[in-house]
Amino acid sequence: MFDLSAYNTFNLTVYAQEGRVIATPEDLAQPVRGPFIILGGGSDVLFTEDFAGTVLINRIMGIEYGPKLDVHGQPTADDNATHILVRVGGGVLLDDFIATMIAEGICGLENLSLIPGTVGAAPIQNVGAYGVEIGELIACVEAREVLSGKCVTLTKEQCRFSYRSSIFKEQGWSNLFITHVIFKLPLRFTPQVNYAGLQSCEFKNAAALRARVIALRTEKLPNPKYVGNAGSFFKNPYVSAAKVAELQAHYGTVPCYLQSDGRYKLAAGWLIDQAHCRGIKHGQVGTWGKQALVIVNLGGAKPHEVVALAKYVSAEVRNQFALDLVPEVRLYGKHGEISWDQI
Ligand code: EPU
Repeated sequence: MFDLSAYNTFNLTVYAQEGRVIATPEDLAQPVRGPFIILGGGSDVLFTEDFAGTVLINRIMGIEYGPKLDVHGQPTADDNATHILVRVGGGVLLDDFIATMIAEGICGLENLSLIPGTVGAAPIQNVGAYGVEIGELIACVEAREVLSGKCVTLTKEQCRFSYRSSIFKEQGWSNLFITHVIFKLPLRFTPQVNYAGLQSCEFKNAAALRARVIALRTEKLPNPKYVGNAGSFFKNPYVSAAKVAELQAHYGTVPCYLQSDGRYKLAAGWLIDQAHCRGIKHGQVGTWGKQALVIVNLGGAKPHEVVALAKYVSAEVRNQFALDLVPEVRLYGKHGEISWDQI
């Protein structure tokens, strides 16, 4: 049995039949029998019970610098280079990579500072924060099919990035082990400050913006080192303009963001808060007092308690708003990934 408690940021004590640390793509040559799960930092998963299979843990490290590119995307050695290609091992911690880039004068990732997890996991759910999604900065993703050992490279377009999703979450694509991610990053700092907490601030460089994002996250979100959690538990739901108007008539200001298709992305944290579920505690599980969208392990929680609290919160939101919340975290059961309706 392989203890997964150090490999899931919810800090739940759960076991897999076998665990394998993958340090190089060649480590994947050894065949895997039976069901398997790929884990990066374990920061976006909930194990609802023990897993009767093998867990492959991505620890492929290394940062390699590729050519600098001009405004047309052509390699150049001139001072007029606008971007640089950087190839990163899937097991590198995303925040370590961001810190290294900023120290090297390479920009673009600063809004994603302090997001837990690894570089290899980041494209799967297209991690995003403070107005930037990682898919915008990716040139391509290198992966290996776990069962056949075949190597594949997917371009940014082939990755089909969308809000907290990508091709890697689609059926038939989840057996890809992301070995490396190639980023195309700007060499000049263009601050992305559309997000509420960043507006009306002046940032002289990427390091200053990173410092502000770290301050915002530290203030609102629990540190998984001390309080087990997997970040936002639910996705922000998409709703119609009519639904927003109905909510505004009743609640006044409603935190929501217009999408290109005319729908609105509604803050799930606000819905949970309005449903009086912020800062609640059921046994050893609760919602975070400063950000209701985060479910926390208050110490020694059992997987079924986390599931029960998540179901309770979603039922309260459904009763009050007639809206269904869908988890952002991936759920795993005895035989592999499971859907929200299955638990
Ligand atoms: N709100 C409340 N009560 C709460 C929580 C939020 O009223 O308990 C309101 C806030 O006041 C704000 C709005 O809801 O007006 C949105 O809240 P926030 O700015 O904290 O952002 P979010 O939409 O809840 C998303 C991401 C976070 C990311 C932040 C910042 C999702 C599901 N979550 O949260 O990502 O850090 O924006 O960009 O998209 C994660 O994915 O794990 C994560 C933490």
